[in-house]
Amino acid sequence: MKLPSGYEDFLLGQFPADLVNRLLDALDNSVSLRHAVFHRQTLESWNLSNPEFLPLHKNDRLCNGAFFARDFVFAHCPGYYSGLYYPQEASASEVVSLLPENLNLVLDLCAAPGGKSIQLSHKLSADGSLVSNEIVPKRAKILSQNLERAGILGRVVTSMSPTELSSIFGPIFDAVLVDAPCSGEGMFRKDPQTISEWSQNQVEVCVARQKEILQSAAKLVSEGGYLLYSTCTFNWYENEGQIKIFLESHPEFYAEKFLQLWPFEVEGEGHFACLLRKSENRQKPNLRPVKPISSPTIPELPSEVQKYLEARGSIHQGRGGIWFYPKRIQPFLPFSQALSFCQEPGVLIVDSGSKPSVSHALALVLPEGIWPDTLTLKDEQVFQFLRGETLATDLSHGCKQILWRNLPLGFGRQIPGRLQNLVPKGLRTFVPRTNLPARPIVRGLSQTQSP
Ligand SMILES: C[S@@+](CC[C@H](N)C(=O)[O-])C[C@H]1O[C@@H](n2cnc3c(N)ncnc32)[C@H](O)[C@@H]1O
Repeated sequence: MKLPSGYEDFLLGQFPADLVNRLLDALDNSVSLRHAVFHRQTLESWNLSNPEFLPLHKNDRLCNGAFFARDFVFAHCPGYYSGLYYPQEASASEVVSLLPENLNLVLDLCAAPGGKSIQLSHKLSADGSLVSNEIVPKRAKILSQNLERAGILGRVVTSMSPTELSSIFGPIFDAVLVDAPCSGEGMFRKDPQTISEWSQNQVEVCVARQKEILQSAAKLVSEGGYLLYSTCTFNWYENEGQIKIFLESHPEFYAEKFLQLWPFEVEGEGHFACLLRKSENRQKPNLRPVKPISSPTIPELPSEVQKYLEARGSIHQGRGGIWFYPKRIQPFLPFSQALSFCQEPGVLIVDSGSKPSVSHALALVLPEGIWPDTLTLKDEQVFQFLRGETLATDLSHGCKQILWRNLPLGFGRQIPGRLQNLVPKGLRTFVPRTNLPARPIVRGLSQTQSP
């Protein structure tokens, strides 16, 4: 690999020669592997029962997911569309595990495209909420789609600057993740453009931007709360150096854990993370209470589904239709006038459109067994459905939640002779017709370890 000019000397100014040599060798010799983080089910339960769809192997050091077989095309697996898993760079998937479990209010400050937000959603308490923010509006849209596909209930997606968010919320979050924009030295093997864009000047620009983001992030962390900082770069200035400067100007924080993954040690591109904690010495601010919203009767929803939702939050008429606000996002509603959301918080459950209809998002957040009428597709029908095609079916009339295995894919409505496809046009996939993975690529967990 042709590294940026001056890169080796730049590293030698920061690290021992032996470490630099091992790093440069790794950048030159190894290939980048693809990795899956499981969202809806555990890897073990999925892989053991469905090895033909997702050939994977595990690695002892990177334990938050598993690697795809090299010839596996994730976009050809229906599990991708039902949020079963999210493809994420292997070492990036370790960062969130530094945080404790059962967090109530979490903010992912630099969140697109959303891999770490999906992982953060697993760290929430039963009623916990996650705000995922992405400053670039186009990327915020992709973030929002990825979180929707994952069926995350308590998601709030905003597109604002860290400074704006800190002035709106103040110190209310149990945990704030700053997965910072960085010079991306860990992306050299995956994305040659990062090599051409790298320069010492760009590192300085990144350091200044990260410093500014951290200043705002610090104002958003509650007393006793966590600030998790990470980058996918190797240089000292954006990693330990950045933490050193931060701690010097923020004596209320202390460093609790570090994670440094080098590409010569793991089957991944490398990552840096540091978990900081804010000392607990002042009173936590109280959030304003949320006004209760009365639930209307909703003709498009079966009564048991409405009851299921009402037990978990509140339903109200909003922009574009009827919305469900899970309990876990309610702490953010008092701020909703001030926030600039990428997508309204909550889940649109009935799209008012020209003819009111249940929304796709509702199909994705309802676990199997709640919607009374379901249709489980055969493997060969899945992509026909995801492409938005109608299926020739002769079932009882009405709206059905469409499942693949036990995962939700969307809604379909039986009309005479066929199943009308209710997947919105913008979310239909364009995968070719003969693309389900061939059966022979079976590498069960019991047979494979890291190569
Ligand atoms: C490393 S990426 C985040 C990846 C994400 N955490 C994930 O796991 O998918 C950094 C993000 O920070 C955003 N960003 C760039 N400049 C920023 C700024 N000044 N403040 C906040 N975020 C910024 C970028 O647009 C980018 O999406």
